[in-house]
Amino acid sequence: MRKRFQAGQVMKQGGLSRRELMKVGFLGGAGLWLLGCGSDGGGDIDTGLLMPDGSAPVVDGSLITTVDGATPSCDDDTDINIEGPYYRAGAPVRNVLIDGATPGVKMSLTGTVRGLGTCGALAGATVDLWQADTNALYDSVGFAFRGKTMTDADGNYSFQTVVPGHYLNGAQYRPAHIHVKVSAPGYPLLTTQLYFEGDPYNAIDPWYLPTLLMKPRGGGGGVLGLGFDFVLKPA
Ligand SMILES: [Fe+2]
Repeated sequence: MRKRFQAGQVMKQGGLSRRELMKVGFLGGAGLWLLGCGSDGGGDIDTGLLMPDGSAPVVDGSLITTVDGATPSCDDDTDINIEGPYYRAGAPVRNVLIDGATPGVKMSLTGTVRGLGTCGALAGATVDLWQADTNALYDSVGFAFRGKTMTDADGNYSFQTVVPGHYLNGAQYRPAHIHVKVSAPGYPLLTTQLYFEGDPYNAIDPWYLPTLLMKPRGGGGGVLGLGFDFVLKPA
């Protein structure tokens, strides 16, 4: 049986709905949290996540994603962020981390890996991803919600996963986040985290950076589509 653990060794199980969601999106105190996916309307929306004061978020089903600009921006290299304690080397090469029975809000993460300066696409770059599951648990024995993939000739990568849950780090919840290590020949390894726009815990998290927010991209058909383009600084 897979052993799982959680940051701070504090379980966060109570009070959360486990409903599978077709669409997600609400306006919370910190702004837009999970965005609706696709453009095919609203529907019943319940993220299952609560505001810091324990109240339910205000739901606004009219929030629909807009696809962000396709023009890559390489003005600055991607910010680093802490690795944290839960990285495991040796994740399988795969970019689909879920199946039809996986609980949680399905999401796609797509983007490119480019080099600073030329903004050229980096083919064959490795994106090594790890994250908590929808219940905010990391797999410490197996490789659930862990996988690495290589960029294609145009520098593109993609993952299919779920939105990770909030976990306690000491006495404070961390915002939902996805860990990555991005590497390419001639570039120092980039270790960072990606964050969700509007997560109510972003503002109080000591590691959150707005430059590491994923942006609406793709998705649809019940899948939340998010994107992030990495820019690596040459050695
Ligand atoms: Fe984490």
